[in-house]
Order: sequence, then C-alpha cells, then structure tokens
Amino acid sequence: MSSRVAIVTGAASGIGRACVERFAAQGYGVVAVDRSTDAFDWLGEEADVLRLAGDVTNSATNEDAVAAAVDRFGRLDVAVFNAGISMGGDLLDLPIEEFDRTMDVNVRAVALGIRAVTPMLRTQGDGGRIVVTASTSGIGADPRMWAYNTSKAAVINLARSAAVDLGADGITVNAVCPGPTETAMTSGLAAMPEVHDELRRRIPLQRWGRPEEVAAMIAFVASADASFVNGAVIPVDGGITANTGQFSPGSRG
Ligand SMILES: NC(=O)c1ccc[n+]([C@@H]2O[C@H](COP(=O)([O-])OP(=O)(O)OC[C@H]3O[C@@H](n4cnc5c(N)ncnc54)[C@H](O)[C@@H]3O)[C@@H](O)[C@H]2O)c1
Repeated sequence: MSSRVAIVTGAASGIGRACVERFAAQGYGVVAVDRSTDAFDWLGEEADVLRLAGDVTNSATNEDAVAAAVDRFGRLDVAVFNAGISMGGDLLDLPIEEFDRTMDVNVRAVALGIRAVTPMLRTQGDGGRIVVTASTSGIGADPRMWAYNTSKAAVINLARSAAVDLGADGITVNAVCPGPTETAMTSGLAAMPEVHDELRRRIPLQRWGRPEEVAAMIAFVASADASFVNGAVIPVDGGITANTGQFSPGSRG
C-alpha cells in the first residue's frame, strides 16, 4: 500500500504527466485523471497509477477520483488541480461561449475539485495538500489572452480563498504559476520559431521551462516539507514575472 496518495488532473500530458511520473517515482499512489485513458499510452503498467477518464467540469469526475483513491489506495493526501485549456482571442471578437468554457475548465472545475477532495483530506488530520496549476498569465496579462488571463487570476484567488478557509483543517492550498513551458499547450508557439524565440529572450534565464521543473515545485508544495507554505502564489517562470517589462533582460548591459 502506498504511503501517500495523490490525485492529478490533466494528467496525460505536459505538466500533469510530469507530476504523475514524479509522484510515482516517489512511491505515491496516483489517480491520474484526463479526458480519455487513450492519452495515457506513455504510461506502463505501474501498479500504483490508476487512470481515470473524465471531464473535470463534471462534479461526478471529481467525486469518482476521490472514490478511486479511497477504493484503490485507502487514503488521499494530495490533490493537484492541473487540467486547463488555453484560450487566445481578441477582446471584442472571441465568442463569449469560449470565455465561459475557459472559466468552466480553468476555474469552476477547480472549485468542484476542491469541494470533492476536502471531506477526505479533512479526515487525514494535518497534512492535506491541494495544489492548483495557475499561470504567470494570472499574475499579469498576456496580449489577446483575456479569457485565459481572467481565468488564471480567478483560480489564484480561489486557491487563496480555499487556503484561508481550510487552513484550520490542516489542509494547505497553493497556486503554482508556470511561465512558458514546453508542452502540448504551447506546441503552436513552438512551431513559430520567431515568436518562440522572442518569448525565450524575455525570460531572464533565456530559455523556456520544462514540465519537470514545474512538477518539482508542485511536488515540493505537496510534500510534508512544505508544512507552513499556505496560500502562496509561486512563479516557476525563469524570472519572467520579476521583470517590469520596461526593458528586455540584457538590453541595458
Ligand atoms: N505550458 C505552459 O506554458 C503553461 C504555462 C502556464 C500555465 N500552464 C497551465 O498548466 C496546466 C497544464 O498545462 P500543460 O501545459 O501541461 O498543457 P497540456 O495541454 O499538455 O495538458 C493539459 C491536460 O489537461 C487535460 N484537460 C483539459 N481539459 C480537461 C477537462 N475538461 N477534463 C479533463 N482533462 C482536461 C488535457 O486533456 C491535457 O492532457 C494548465 O492548467 C495550463 O493552463 C501551462
């Protein structure tokens, strides 16, 4: 029986996949949730990783994930609400239904997830951990990304609200905010070398992030070592949010 158990949403790809791989390597039992189990073809027959197909915007998916953790592993310690969609589009032209869909996946589904896992985390006494994958786009705003920017700012304050409300139950809630990270979500940008390189140059470390680097921070705030980290908004962004944006890094050497 695994000593610690985590639910990870958006687990089939990118940052979620890196979280599953990291938790599994650390001996966690993992309930890996994504829209389809077909997307887990990279996963071997790891006994301690349970795949669950479902749309996180449905409350049943979130409840099924908790039930699966309890049935298979007998406990739940960590929930990583990582599933998300990107949404570009002009403020005046983007159909409002796309704004609604972005808020549904990136914010409302996280609220459903927090509500689903909290009763079980409470029963564990001190040590429950909730981690939300937000974004640097929730700290500042990226051009023509107004729906996404809004959703990620909202999910940051959802994480803070939950941290304030659940702290007395010994549950921490933190928001990890990746900067540009090489995943399927950003593969469209990677296919445009000039845009990709312009963004790279805006990052003080002068390179894009890797999913494992975000997963490393998520795993830390999910761990017992992060026992006094609560309600934190943590950029994992190569320093991009440290820049005021007035000058590009290195431009006034
Ligand atoms: N890649 C980046 O540069 C970057 C930067 C900042 C924040 N983020 C955030 O990181 C998180 C992970 O993104 P990623 O870059 O790994 O993208 P990704 O596209 O590689 O992975 C996202 C996963 O979420 C799943 N998913 C989406 N909607 C879902 C739903 N309704 N139900 C179940 N699963 C769903 C997808 O199927 C996919 O497997 C997202 O919340 C994203 O907004 C990514």
